[in-house]
Amino acid sequence: MHLPDYREARTRDKRSYQRLSFSLDSSIMNKYAGKKYFVKTYGCQMNEHDSENICALLETLGFLKVDDYPDADLVLLNTCSIRENAHNKAFGMLGRLKHLKQVNKDLIIGISGCMAQEASVVDQIMRDYPFVNFVIGTHNFYQLPEIIDQAITSSKQQIEVYSREGDLVEGVPVVRTSPFKAYVNIIYGCDKFCTYCIVPYTRGRERSRKKEDILEEVKELIRDGYQEVTLLGQNVNAYGKDLYDDYGMGDLLEDIAKLEIPRIRFMTSHPWDFTDKMIQIIGKYPNIMPSIHLPVQSGSNRILKRMGRRYTRESYLELFHKIKETVPNVSISTDIIVGFPGEEEEDFLETLSLAETCQYDNAFTFIFSAREGTPAAKLEDHTPLEVKEERLQRLNEVVNASFLKNHKKLEGCRVKVLVEGISEKKDMYFGYSETNQLINFTSNQELTCGEIVEVEITSAKTWSLDGKCVSSN
Ligand code: SAH
Ligand code: SF4
Ligand code: F3S
Repeated sequence: MHLPDYREARTRDKRSYQRLSFSLDSSIMNKYAGKKYFVKTYGCQMNEHDSENICALLETLGFLKVDDYPDADLVLLNTCSIRENAHNKAFGMLGRLKHLKQVNKDLIIGISGCMAQEASVVDQIMRDYPFVNFVIGTHNFYQLPEIIDQAITSSKQQIEVYSREGDLVEGVPVVRTSPFKAYVNIIYGCDKFCTYCIVPYTRGRERSRKKEDILEEVKELIRDGYQEVTLLGQNVNAYGKDLYDDYGMGDLLEDIAKLEIPRIRFMTSHPWDFTDKMIQIIGKYPNIMPSIHLPVQSGSNRILKRMGRRYTRESYLELFHKIKETVPNVSISTDIIVGFPGEEEEDFLETLSLAETCQYDNAFTFIFSAREGTPAAKLEDHTPLEVKEERLQRLNEVVNASFLKNHKKLEGCRVKVLVEGISEKKDMYFGYSETNQLINFTSNQELTCGEIVEVEITSAKTWSLDGKCVSSN
């Protein structure tokens, strides 16, 4: 049994981790053939992609996927710790699973993901949730087949969570959710330690994959007919810093662009590491999508400092304008936290005015949630929740207005859309534009998912655009 340890997660040295190739104990391959599994994913794209690996690992044991958890023999919750409501959702689901297990005693229940890295969560599971069969951390999830086998054969609660960075394992099997869009990890972990954020504790320090491994994965995706890759990392801009003297995110983007996959996206970019070279490369290659997620978090220098974000309002705006000037028709989205401890009305007004200035194309807005063990959780916080909720609402009004205003500018224009499927509104296809806007559209011809078509925008809404297809292959 290995338990998570925050103190250990915080004392990060330059200890070298190993780079390994995945291997599976062949004696357990297909051992559970015919059994069914259900995986529920919370949190970010990185967790979604981990779940694609987790599904493949379960399938090596012989498990088959089902769409409803009551039909499953094994239910795994791949959890997120970013805000309290992510915690609450996972614990709510555990409550439902407890009832199910009273009826189905053989049900296997497991927890993976970021909550598994939190000591307090694991304590709680050991104390109050004895019906959970196993807990596996983010650093060693590739050991899932062996841990599940031990959980089933020993019938003892298995807890395997490492707080030291895990080894970087290549070749973990994957079942991708989409046949035309794929996630590709380029860097794990985060070294930024923003004072409110739990990710550096749950995902460890920054570790880049080797460029050769990334390029090989993209080439394979191209051979398999993929149209779009999204390069993933908590801070993709830091790519390569831990590994190379002279090869960074700009170089990687350029090398991937030259492979000629139609669409390249990447997320998330911390404003701190965004280099001029990256901006130039994004502007130069038409297959690097002109859509950048550039979280600002706050418009107040006082709050940015308390958040440990390492940039000022002025330097953020300078970067923002440089990107807008260099990359034609770029769309920029952001994340904003309101109600950070010590945020006064005047700080919030600075955030509002920055949102007015930037006229974002999309924004994810949150109320600060204190995460145990992070420095911000210890700061005094006098602002009542009602005031924070009211600030969130005021901010949402400003950002929503900018989405609609930007969308309106597209009415009558033609945009390229990767067809993803038929939308809930019958007879409408849907997909995303190059600038990552959701487009619902009609077509006189039947379209295939995964093809890129041209759509004329007929009407703009706040979160989507309607249009009609004007050309396809
Ligand atoms: N690595 C990314 C962020 C990942 S978390 C980056 O730095 O850009 C996604 C978003 O969740 C963050 O940008 C932040 O806006 C929000 N977030 C993170 N911790 C939070 C907390 N404790 N309370 C509220 N929102 C938080
Ligand atoms: Fe969290 Fe900051 Fe790292 Fe993003 S950059 S994951 S907000 S610590
Ligand atoms: Fe959540 Fe972990 Fe992602 S905390 S946002 S699942 S890195």
